[in-house]
Amino acid sequence: MSLETIVGNIKIRNPLILASGVLGSSYSVLQRIYEAGIGAVVTKSVGPVSREGNPNPSIFALKDINGAINSIGLANPGYKHFRDEIKILLENNVQTIVSIFGGDVEEFNEVLVGLSDLSITAFELNLSCPNTEKEGMVLGTDPQIVRRIVENLRKKTESPIWVKLTPNVTDILEIADAAIKGGCDALVAINTLKAMVIDIYSRHPILGFKRGGLSGSPIKPVGIRNIFDLYEQFGEKIPLVGVGGIAKWEDVFEYILAGASAVQIGTALGIAHPENKIRHIKNNIQKFMKNEGIEKIANIIGGAHR
Ligand code: SIN
Repeated sequence: MSLETIVGNIKIRNPLILASGVLGSSYSVLQRIYEAGIGAVVTKSVGPVSREGNPNPSIFALKDINGAINSIGLANPGYKHFRDEIKILLENNVQTIVSIFGGDVEEFNEVLVGLSDLSITAFELNLSCPNTEKEGMVLGTDPQIVRRIVENLRKKTESPIWVKLTPNVTDILEIADAAIKGGCDALVAINTLKAMVIDIYSRHPILGFKRGGLSGSPIKPVGIRNIFDLYEQFGEKIPLVGVGGIAKWEDVFEYILAGASAVQIGTALGIAHPENKIRHIKNNIQKFMKNEGIEKIANIIGGAHR
């Protein structure tokens, strides 16, 4: 029985990947999660310069619905300061996908080129953060800009390029098509949904930035629908990585059957003891595969379309 999966030309020892941002960007935490058995890790998004991000509170747990709403605002130390953390992860053989962002094509170029001497497993382009004025989602909602960014970066690195898509568009397929035409190696769907919470006593928005992005269990059906639609449209032309609301081993199979070759787990690892959660999900995946007679994860990718 094999849990191994392939995303483009990257072999990953199992389909579970730590989603960007959830456990910060310190190498020691990411390495611990990898040692607990996750297939790969995605770093917090890094940009051209350090950013403080949005005012606190920047994250709010929605306990009753097993979700969270955040407006971190791409807080990060800047790629020059982050290089050393990435280097240690790679030296310790941690499959490391580096999430990068920029406000325009030039900024994306600067970050990618500044890190391209490291043998990074893949770059994940964050074109989908809903929590900033200039970067992120604004770029990721325009197919022409998406294509231009991906095309430019494609010429600058041999490392695979993954594009993380926002669900906050009328037609995700149009944006995906632009990213594919630009030359990306995989699509990651979905980032958070635009959302907001208001305190009824103070009568003010709870988050410092007022608006934020919803993650966790409530968005899982939206993620599944997007992966299903992407797989139906593009089939095996482009590998898909599913993300959004994965908290249980069953969710992993749901995403794989919809068409994902791998999945990213975010909010659930921020809430629970992450190492235990990963072990639990992995063990149950193995049990289910055994019971169902599934020899390879790869055999059931897109199974819900057949
Ligand atoms: C943030 O930094 O605001 C969250 C990152 C994202 O949603 O891409």
